[in-house]
Amino acid sequence: MSSHATPHIPQHVAIIMDGNGRWAKARNLPRTAGHQRGIESVKRAIEFAAEAQVKYLTLFGFSTENWNRPQDEISELMRLLRMYLKSETASLHKNEIRLRVIGDRKKFDRDIIDMINNAENLTKNNQKLNLTIALNYGGRQDILNAVHKTVEASQQKQLSNDDINKIFEQSLWTHELPDPDLLIRTSGEQRISNFLIWSCAYTEYVFTDTLWPDFSQEDFTNAVHTYQNRDRRFGAIDPSDQEAMS
Ligand code: IPE
Ligand code: IPE
Ligand code: MG
Repeated sequence: MSSHATPHIPQHVAIIMDGNGRWAKARNLPRTAGHQRGIESVKRAIEFAAEAQVKYLTLFGFSTENWNRPQDEISELMRLLRMYLKSETASLHKNEIRLRVIGDRKKFDRDIIDMINNAENLTKNNQKLNLTIALNYGGRQDILNAVHKTVEASQQKQLSNDDINKIFEQSLWTHELPDPDLLIRTSGEQRISNFLIWSCAYTEYVFTDTLWPDFSQEDFTNAVHTYQNRDRRFGAIDPSDQEAMS
């Protein structure tokens, strides 16, 4: 580890959970079988994060582009989401986990929206881990949505540049979350796929070939170690190099 690396625990870990379909295909199973196994990985990842004392964990569950999948697959994903919320809300609460959902929830069925609202309400004072699930989420939609809200506010009264910046940032679905320190993507793909494009401006990206249903404690720990060995400069230079300059 270099002297300027960050050996601390990342405060906010975001994960693009990818590879369920390929996991199933490799076993001659329907893609939906991969999604079912993927749910087990979600439960495990929450435990890994809580044990590692990560304070924020954000999972990409369903993107605005995932509506382009076959109707059967979407229905199965909705069934799994229902099942997850029904069976896990109580245990999230028991484990002092706060659940938030980001994304446009209006597109989901009424019973799912109600379950999300109830779970958020039930867990809102929990402080052990902030779990956020991105559902019908798109980074571009998040930004555009915030622009619309800001324009609306500006039509009601004259805003200073500072007001505009503040209203814009507070209108993002992610506004209560700190910027992610570490973004993990499974399955070997190396792209952001319209996830947290605003708040990941200075996030460290770690890619693993492991398919999401196989995501293990070791994968999680390895990603955190990789993160801890990165030099984060945020556009500045290392303090020791600064001394060398003067
Ligand atoms: C991730 O796995 C789950 C969702 C996007 C809902 P995929 O379903 O994208 O799996 P692959 O990428 O086809 O293997
Ligand atoms: C990103 O995965 C979305 C989620 C993990 C929910 P995709 O599988 O949808 O992304 P692409 O199509 O490979 O970019
Ligand atoms: Mg995929």
